[in-house]
Amino acid sequence: MKYNYKDLGLVNTKEMFAKANKEGYSVPAFNFNNLEQLQGIIEACVEMGSPVILQVSTGARKYIGKEMLPFMAKAATEYVKASGSDIPVALHLDHGPSYDVCRDCIEYGFSSVMIDASHHSFDENVEISKSVADFAHTHDVTVEAELGVLAGVEDDVVAEHSIYTQPDEVQEFVERTGVDSLAIAIGTSHGAHKFKPGDNPKIRLDILKEIEERIPGFPIVLHGSSSVPKQFVDMIVQYGGTMKDAIGIPDEQLLLASKSAVAKINVDTDGRLAFTAGIREVLATKPGEFDPRKYAGKAKDYMKEYYKSKIVDVFGSQDAYKRGIEVK
Ligand code: G3H
Ligand code: 13P
Ligand code: ZN
Repeated sequence: MKYNYKDLGLVNTKEMFAKANKEGYSVPAFNFNNLEQLQGIIEACVEMGSPVILQVSTGARKYIGKEMLPFMAKAATEYVKASGSDIPVALHLDHGPSYDVCRDCIEYGFSSVMIDASHHSFDENVEISKSVADFAHTHDVTVEAELGVLAGVEDDVVAEHSIYTQPDEVQEFVERTGVDSLAIAIGTSHGAHKFKPGDNPKIRLDILKEIEERIPGFPIVLHGSSSVPKQFVDMIVQYGGTMKDAIGIPDEQLLLASKSAVAKINVDTDGRLAFTAGIREVLATKPGEFDPRKYAGKAKDYMKEYYKSKIVDVFGSQDAYKRGIEVK
């Protein structure tokens, strides 16, 4: 083990999820790729008193650098302490493609990993997920696995049509693998184009309910849950970008899911949209600006304010812990 997550001030997701399910909210899992996105996420969660899962894809880890990343997570937990907040922070691998990648992340300070073997057969998915859970648990790291396939583009996994999770498979899957949480496919999908214009943008809350009945109290995860806010899509287009027919999941449906056994909801695209809108706005309205703090700072502010509102509108996780103050 090169780094132990506990030395970085991180926690695994076990207690976070138990509290979220007991109190009827979900924990935000926000993806980040750079410092300003991390600042936006951690400041929003500190100010709202919300637990947070800092989520990193394989591609994001490559972009940041595996040596740099643990100390970005440590910087975030130090920020939490300095702000007077006591929100728990996890560092989670999103869509881990293999046992080896999951193991490497665990050895580099992740407190939680996802093994995404959902595109394999049921038995292969069980075997791969179990091998990750067995290793992770020897280091007190929690594991998320996925059953069913989301539409859209996943990191290294492409599924054109979603395959809903079959409720009659979930109990056997969690028992045989020993994983700590389960990502399911109920009609969400990755990216900014989740539905076609004219579609009824609905997720299958009926399947979610059936799944919950099969594994009562077990933490369920929703991927692909960005709402794709119109204000940022409009700004991106207004300031020279292209973004046609971008449609997300309505907030009200996600809030219903948060009140159920859904313990973690993944959001990446919304943050990307807010961030891009901020950068485009500054560069378009101030063409002479070339100080990165001006445009990346604006991008961070938009992302932070949006995530603060999303914590209330979607996760319901505000005030689960003591609120902290912004550290100047
Ligand atoms: O599920 C995918 C996440 O949004 C991460 O995307 O692989 O482009 O970092 P990425
Ligand atoms: P969105 O693309 O809807 O933000 O989903 C992100 C996600 O599921 C990351 O794993
Ligand atoms: Zn995902």
